[in-house]
Amino acid sequence: MVEIENRIQKNEALTDDMAMKLAMQESRLGLGFVNPNPAVGCVILNSKNHFLAKGHHKVFGGPHAEIIALENLPTDKPKEELLKGARLFVTLEPCAHEGKTPSCAKALAKLPFAEIVYGLIDPNPLVAGKGAEIISQAGIKCTHFGKWQDNLEETCEHFLMNFRHKRPFVSLKVASSLDGQMALKTGESKWITGEEARIHGRLLRATHDMTIVGKNTIMIDDPHLNIRHDDFPEKENKLLILDPAGETLSKPGLKIFEIHRPENLFIAVSEETFADENIQNSARGLATLISVKLQPDWNYNLDQMLGKLWDLDIRSVLVEGGALALSSFISQGKAHRLYLFQAFLILGASTGKSWSEQVKIESMTERISLRNPKVKRFNQDLLITGRIN
Ligand SMILES: NC(=O)c1ccc[n+]([C@@H]2O[C@H](COP(=O)([O-])OP(=O)(O)OC[C@H]3O[C@@H](n4cnc5c(N)ncnc54)[C@H](OP(=O)(O)O)[C@@H]3O)[C@@H](O)[C@H]2O)c1
Repeated sequence: MVEIENRIQKNEALTDDMAMKLAMQESRLGLGFVNPNPAVGCVILNSKNHFLAKGHHKVFGGPHAEIIALENLPTDKPKEELLKGARLFVTLEPCAHEGKTPSCAKALAKLPFAEIVYGLIDPNPLVAGKGAEIISQAGIKCTHFGKWQDNLEETCEHFLMNFRHKRPFVSLKVASSLDGQMALKTGESKWITGEEARIHGRLLRATHDMTIVGKNTIMIDDPHLNIRHDDFPEKENKLLILDPAGETLSKPGLKIFEIHRPENLFIAVSEETFADENIQNSARGLATLISVKLQPDWNYNLDQMLGKLWDLDIRSVLVEGGALALSSFISQGKAHRLYLFQAFLILGASTGKSWSEQVKIESMTERISLRNPKVKRFNQDLLITGRIN
């Protein structure tokens, strides 16, 4: 990115790869603000491939990235003059339809662009290619970028999963020692990672619709589990506790009940517990109960649970532990992305608690490999992330 910034500063030409990379970086600025819409970024180059403007979709229901980039054009020359022979790079095919906002493809088709380059084809087969067609019919070259599809998909993976499977996107977040432990057997886990990694963990709460944790984590750690991040000062997250017998309700002094408003707090209980009038009474004014089927192995049927969350308009969830909660999402094939914060310390297998303790891999053919893995350094920790499913 440094080279791209330098070239822009010196008013030097950008390559197509650079323009799309910049558009991808721009798209990420919308994460946590645009859901359930996709995060989309856009860059405009002039006829000599010099940078003119960039923009991203900022808020759900607001103007799309292409329109924001057009609004960000320099004002020293008329728009028509600036855009003569210009090229626009956008991470997702311009929309063909009129929804909450007018059609971007139609808006672009009226301008003197030489070319529109888009990263991903619209995932809706009924409209895929329609935006490109409107632009081509106006005599503007319209090109599918074709490269880096994994990286481009990553920028709007929640949206793509929602669209294709009508289920929330599931991310797992864990802080682990070098030997794969997430806590000591005593239950102690504060803190495995440093402050910077923990701040990033809270950012992930803001970019998902709901945080999910198991009952033991609540009982042992008494955590806040709210966002507390400078980029999202106003945002409140929704929280779901996996607590089949509703035990957390007998401890109303827990921090989660003080911090999270009842409309944002949910407890997944078994069908049997849900039918218990006393539990219903204890939950009143504290949290909403969701009834979920327990399987013969005493784990929830997560497909049923995710279906119920979908019906509550939850489009992405961040599972933060403990070991049982994380393991069950992996075992039932319901985890899509892992965020593993790797601390440079050892806790010992006999004294520690492994975060994947319930995951059973009988042969190397069953091992789970991360797709498109990435590593980022946070001061004293690493973040390793990649797609599981
Ligand atoms: N390092 C980290 O990133 C991190 C993050 C969070 C927690 N932790 C640590 O993890 C430890 C707790 O882990 P844990 O494995 O004991 O507990 P957990 O997953 O927090 O809670 C386990 C309990 O929650 C319920 N539960 C969880 N998943 C379920 C599912 N899929 N279906 C049905 N019920 C489910 C069950 O309650 P019932 O027993 O009532 O059936 C289960 O016994 C703590 O020491 C905590 O400090 C570490």
